[in-house]
Amino acid sequence: MQYTPENAQKVGDALPIDQILCGDNLDLIQKLPDCSIQLVITSPPYFQQRDYGGGMGNETDVDEYINILLCLFRECTRVVKDDGSIVFNIGDKYMDSNLLLVPYRFALAATETGLVKLVNEVTWVKRNPTPRQFRRRLVSSTEPFFHFAKSDNYYYDINAFLAQERAQKQRNKKGNTKLGQRYFELISESELSKSEKTAARKELTEVIQEVLHGQIYDFRMKIRGIHAEPFGGQIGGRTLQLKNKGFTIIRMHGNKLKRDVIETSVAAVKGNKHPAIYPVEVVEEFLHLLTRPGSLVLDPFMGSGSTAVACKKLGRHYIGYDINATYCEDARQRVSEMPKYRLIN
Ligand SMILES: C[S@@+](CC[C@H](N)C(=O)[O-])C[C@H]1O[C@@H](n2cnc3c(N)ncnc32)[C@H](O)[C@@H]1O
Repeated sequence: MQYTPENAQKVGDALPIDQILCGDNLDLIQKLPDCSIQLVITSPPYFQQRDYGGGMGNETDVDEYINILLCLFRECTRVVKDDGSIVFNIGDKYMDSNLLLVPYRFALAATETGLVKLVNEVTWVKRNPTPRQFRRRLVSSTEPFFHFAKSDNYYYDINAFLAQERAQKQRNKKGNTKLGQRYFELISESELSKSEKTAARKELTEVIQEVLHGQIYDFRMKIRGIHAEPFGGQIGGRTLQLKNKGFTIIRMHGNKLKRDVIETSVAAVKGNKHPAIYPVEVVEEFLHLLTRPGSLVLDPFMGSGSTAVACKKLGRHYIGYDINATYCEDARQRVSEMPKYRLIN
């Protein structure tokens, strides 16, 4: 039976939903059915960076490292649904003063499998990189998150990506009873006729409601005799509205440009011993972009549990693997101690 949010309970026995399992991810992932996962999001051990007490990352050769990662990646493509995605975050490595470009070698090899398309390289900009200034090179303060899709039909909610700023502004406006009040005053002060003033007040009231209900981000109003006419001298739609109706309202839909950059600080989790934690906020952005509420997400290198935390926060289900029993125990503890969230999508 295929997993869907609706039949989560029924398949719960077959799939370890909302669990973090201890073991080698290549063994564990083989137990998952085909096309059961909406999103794989993960950060494998970087090449020759740390010893996690077992598992991969300390291969002698970068090609061997990439081949091992590719074995897992192929399994990820098998378990991901046809409209699903895979997001891999990999850091780079200097060897003998030479930057190896490990992330790009991996991304190239992954696309050469022919199983996926590379949709974006999203750059995570670290606001607080390790403060260690080198004399002969600059401090690395970015890392790529590669977004691969299994088909052209991948689920994608671009409006939900990096939308908190807009949501925050809207919340501020909801508490702002003065929204648009200055325009009411200007209408009264204006030279508009009585019927034009009535129409202007009516449309202003409507547009304020649109902002308060989150249908639009913001608006501007221009009133004849008060505001300057649009530049350029051309008789466009707005100039005509000003002339004929006495006012014009410009609705702003708030579609901020969605750039391939996420800027956050490097995370530290109080009391957690894991040495390489990625920020929950970054995972949240990919959950908004690539999953629906209730979707099932897999992290085969769960580490401190950041992916599980983001999933629980946003009402997604997760499955996590880590080879280190202490990390698994700490991650389960971290998730269980999370406060209850009111879900806003
Ligand atoms: C870079 S960390 C992941 C950190 C995680 N994203 C977080 O925010 O905490 C990589 C993790 O992969 C685990 N690991 C390494 N090889 C593994 C394997 N073969 N199977 C499962 N886990 C493995 C390590 O124990 C380590 O916790």
